[in-house]
Amino acid sequence: MFGFNPNDILNATKKVVVLTGAGVSAESGIPTFRDPMEGYWAEFDPETLATPQAFRKDPRLVMEWYQWRRNKVLSSAPNPAHFELAEWQKRFRSYTLITQNVDGLHEKAGSRHVLEMHGNIHRLRCQNMHYHAWPEPYEYPAKCHVCSKLLRPDIVWFGENLDLKILAACRAAILGADTFVVIGTSGIVYPAAGFLDAAQKMGKATLVINPDPGSGAQAQYFIKGKAGEVLPQLSHAIDWD
Ligand code: OAD
Repeated sequence: MFGFNPNDILNATKKVVVLTGAGVSAESGIPTFRDPMEGYWAEFDPETLATPQAFRKDPRLVMEWYQWRRNKVLSSAPNPAHFELAEWQKRFRSYTLITQNVDGLHEKAGSRHVLEMHGNIHRLRCQNMHYHAWPEPYEYPAKCHVCSKLLRPDIVWFGENLDLKILAACRAAILGADTFVVIGTSGIVYPAAGFLDAAQKMGKATLVINPDPGSGAQAQYFIKGKAGEVLPQLSHAIDWD
C-alpha cells in the first residue's frame, strides 16, 4: 500500500519526532499559506499583515486579520490527522510533536507538550513579553495590564526570531530520534525547512506525508496523500506489539 513496510521505521520501540505544517489543518477547513488558489498568501500580502513593520504601520488592520483568522480556527475542529498524532503519544518509546501551526488544534485533539515553533493564535502579548488571553469580547485596541503597551498575537512574524528554547528543544528531539516524520509542510520557511535535511544527514529514517510530491520528496520514504487519510491507514498497518 505504501511501497514500503511502515514497521521498519515506525513501531513501539522507536523514538519518533513529527513536524507538522498547515497541511495537517487543511482537512479541518483552515487554509494553508501557499496553496495557489486558497492559501492565505495567495489572497493577502504577508508584508502588510505578518511583519513587525506592518503592525507598527497599521496595528488595527493586523489585529483584525488575526481576529478573523482566530474566529475561523475557533469554529473548526481537529481532524483524523490531529487525533492520530495525539494517539501516537502512547505508541512510541519516545515521541515529540513539533508544529509550525498556530491554531492549537493538536492540543485540542489531545496532544500535550507540543513544541509550537511559530507561536499560538489564541495568545496575545505586548512588546515586553507579558502574555494574555484574547479579551472576550475583543475590541481594538487591547492593552497590556502590566505595562499598557498594545497587545499583538503571540506569533512569530517574518523577520522575527523564534523562541530559542523551543528551537533548542526541537533540535535536541531530532538529534535523539530514530525516525523523523514531516507532514503537511511546503518546507519553505526556515528554520523548520532545514530539519528534514539535517535529520537525513544525521542518519535518521525520514518519512514525508504530503499530497504534493514537490514537498519533501527527497525524504527516504514518501507517502503521497492527505494527512487525515494517510495517518489512520499508517497506524492501522503498524504491528504495535
Ligand atoms: P504551506 O502553505 O507553505 O504548505 C502547506 C503544505 O501542506 C503543502 O506542501 C501542501 O501540499 C500540503 N497539504 C495540503 N493539504 C494537505 C493535506 N490534507 N494533508 C497533508 N498535507 C497537505 O504551509 P507551511 O509549510 O505550514 O508561518 O508554512 C510554513 C509557515 O509559513 C507557516 O507556519 C506560516 C507561513 O508563513 C507563520 O505564520 C509564522
